[in-house]
Amino acid sequence: MDLMEAIYRRRSIRRFSPQPVEKDKLYEMVKAARMAPQASNIQPLQYMIVHQKELLEPVFACTRWAGYLEHYAPEPGYRPTAYIVVLLNEEIKKNGNDTDAGLAIENMLLAAVAQDLGTCLIGSVDRQKIRTLLGVPEQCQIHSIVAVGYPAEQPVWEEMPADSIRYYLDEEKRLHVPKRHMSDILLPIQPHLED
Ligand SMILES: Cc1cc2nc3c(=O)[nH]c(=O)nc-3n(C[C@H](O)[C@H](O)[C@H](O)COP(=O)(O)O)c2cc1C
Repeated sequence: MDLMEAIYRRRSIRRFSPQPVEKDKLYEMVKAARMAPQASNIQPLQYMIVHQKELLEPVFACTRWAGYLEHYAPEPGYRPTAYIVVLLNEEIKKNGNDTDAGLAIENMLLAAVAQDLGTCLIGSVDRQKIRTLLGVPEQCQIHSIVAVGYPAEQPVWEEMPADSIRYYLDEEKRLHVPKRHMSDILLPIQPHLED
């Protein structure tokens, strides 16, 4: 798949099919994360892959979904079939870098699209519960969790209407994701050159 196609096709997915995700595909996502640019090439990120059936529900219970919508967390039968937990190892880098994490995560999300998978990055996580549940080492901060599965919805992006950045459902229950207009994000330069 062409890279620009993957960038445009990627949307946060919150409805998944019950089909399990192949372990190889999850591994490919982490391999893509590994190639991301990292400040001073320190690479403080580590990952845990969760695909075991008995862990899926307990991990799901530690995640919060779709803050702008009521009742849009995936119902049983539509929940993620895997997760990748994103960790920042403080023994490698004291103050974990959010930019390092963001770049690695986007690589994972695009690698998922290229393999016909859907993802949702979850920042709203019960970190204490996840730490205990998965045995996350003490030196690792839990940055976020990438929920993964085969998509069972097709959200669309659209030019931002009027003044709301909030995603919403249309009458057919399709999720719409407003993106700010190019003319609002691309500012003209105002150069002041020394004489
Ligand atoms: C740092 C970060 C944290 C996020 N946390 C959550 C979350 O906890 N729950 C959720 O449902 N979506 C979460 N999202 C997904 C955003 O809601 C989503 O990216 C945004 O609405 C734009 O939609 P799009 O990803 O389809 O472009 C998060 C995204 C980012 C970048």
